[in-house]
Amino acid sequence: MSDDKTIENGVSRRQMLIGTGALAAGVAATSLGKWVETAQAQGGETEKWPWPYVKLDPQETAEIAYKEWYRIFCGGAVISSVIGQLREKVGGPYKTFPIDSFVFLEGGQVGWGTICGSPAGANIVANLIIGPRIAGAHEGHQISADNMDFYSKAEMPVFVPKNPKIDPSKIVHTVSDSPLCHISVGKWMKAANLPLGSPERKDRCARVAASSAYRLVEMLNAWHDGTYKPTNSFSCSKENGITGQYNCTECHGDKVPEAPTAKK
Ligand code: HEC
Repeated sequence: MSDDKTIENGVSRRQMLIGTGALAAGVAATSLGKWVETAQAQGGETEKWPWPYVKLDPQETAEIAYKEWYRIFCGGAVISSVIGQLREKVGGPYKTFPIDSFVFLEGGQVGWGTICGSPAGANIVANLIIGPRIAGAHEGHQISADNMDFYSKAEMPVFVPKNPKIDPSKIVHTVSDSPLCHISVGKWMKAANLPLGSPERKDRCARVAASSAYRLVEMLNAWHDGTYKPTNSFSCSKENGITGQYNCTECHGDKVPEAPTAKK
């Protein structure tokens, strides 16, 4: 087959390969920016982003996320809580955004315990509304980093729903010190001494999703008002020459390896 248009949304196979190569080689952001522009230029209506935002009520959003967790789990719930409301209040592109497709974020992506769906979902929403760093939307990047930071450092779950399915006194609070589902859920299960399938663990995760949605909307509202200020101050790749998290010793113990650098 010689036709290089293999993908339905109009991104050609050749461009995909260029994009992937650029990512793998860590080439300067500007070339990625061009790739995004090309994808946008060739894409359909939904490739036009960022999308318009109107301020939402964080409390109301968190209540929606809490309920939605029981339908489409953490990532889907956070996305649904914001996008669902914007469908009503803004309409337009939000009407065709496939919220339920993000159900796969559950369990740190299909149960693999990688990034928790709550910050992942929040970051999808933030980037959709503000735009990507590679297009100069640094606040989208910062809000995403703040989503990760909040998730990692908060006594989770923070949010208490109006009508909880489980008595709040039965839900212990833990700090994950990591955005990873495996670590976050694992530390909570250890503290609570409850299994993954327990109603308490499920309600804990529903509240974590709600807490993440609450924080996200707080930040989006501030950004909308022009008063948003990032609260995170860590860039692992800048400080350590490797992508990663701030708590090196938790995994590496005292012997934190050093990444090879171009300097020296
Ligand atoms: C969630 C656990 C975790 C955290 C947190 C973490 N690392 Fe790692 N890191 C690993 C694992 C697992 C590997 C691969 C196995 C290994 O080499 O230890 C790795 C590999 C590396 C490597 C590649 C070289 C090598 O020896 O494998 C470097 C460099 C590194 N980590 C540095 C850091 C630094 C610096 C931090 C903190 C800013 C950090 N890591 C935080 C788990 C972690």
